[in-house]
Amino acid sequence: MPNFQAILNTIYNDTVKATDKGNVATYIPELAHIDKNNFGMHLKTIDGKVYGIGNYNTKFSIQSISKVLALSKAMSLIGNDIWKRVDVEPSGHPFNQLALLEINDGIPRNPLINAGAIVIADILVSNLENPKADFLNYVRELTGDQSIQFNEKVAHSERETGFRNFAAANLLKSFKNLNNPVDEVLDFYFHQCAIEMTCSQLSKSFFFLANKGKCVLNKTRLTKTQAKRINAIMLTCGFYDEAGEFAFEVGLPGKSGVGGGIVALLPDHFVITTWAPGLNKKGNSKLGMFALEQFTTKTNLSIF
Ligand code: DON
Repeated sequence: MPNFQAILNTIYNDTVKATDKGNVATYIPELAHIDKNNFGMHLKTIDGKVYGIGNYNTKFSIQSISKVLALSKAMSLIGNDIWKRVDVEPSGHPFNQLALLEINDGIPRNPLINAGAIVIADILVSNLENPKADFLNYVRELTGDQSIQFNEKVAHSERETGFRNFAAANLLKSFKNLNNPVDEVLDFYFHQCAIEMTCSQLSKSFFFLANKGKCVLNKTRLTKTQAKRINAIMLTCGFYDEAGEFAFEVGLPGKSGVGGGIVALLPDHFVITTWAPGLNKKGNSKLGMFALEQFTTKTNLSIF
């Protein structure tokens, strides 16, 4: 086994001295003031060992990382019926692009771009009794941590400026691919994105996807096949029009968020989470991608 802590220490030292740290997301005003000098990294192995460096216990906005957990919940509720309403193809376009939705008759290319995640949010709103509370509870149970919360300010901030998401939801509605009212679905979606977690909590919450569907509390959350499918979608779609680059550089299924987090995993081996709030032009964490490339290169652990 590689000396994981020593490797994380080296990566930390090389990463924090980078002069170009990217730029924090400003289109959600509440995220604009986050200090881009934050950097945290946390690793949880399948046998339960944990390693961390930097700000791995600081909470941040998980944003699009939540789309994977929402998809997992939707899969556990309605199974393959999801695929009648959303496809599983990489979009090759930015996360908030709408043109392909118009071309594909209101079927989003995949559940990790915004339009696809809004369809998943609609499924959850239809199938959960108290959608926001039940979803938050699901994330808490996956993580084995009851302290996880929504950041209401972030949810509110995004609602005020989420014009493209309103456009996506309305377009979906026009194609009859949104069953609930636009405001209700987006209120859920903005809250799911506004969940705050630390790197350490995120590594725990994604553990079930590295562990054939069984979470940190050893409960079955998805079947093996469902976990396999979600990992495939993360690999091909988790970084939008940079999914190829992430596979090329890092070689793991993963998911980014505009809060600067990235979760990646090697099935049957580990989950690794990074947080570096500065983003590159594609909206993915610049130093998070660098650190993960270093990790898979130095450990020789990737799916390839
Ligand atoms: O809907 C949005 O635009 C945000 N709540 C989430 C976008 C996001 O995190 C994209 N990922 N890198």
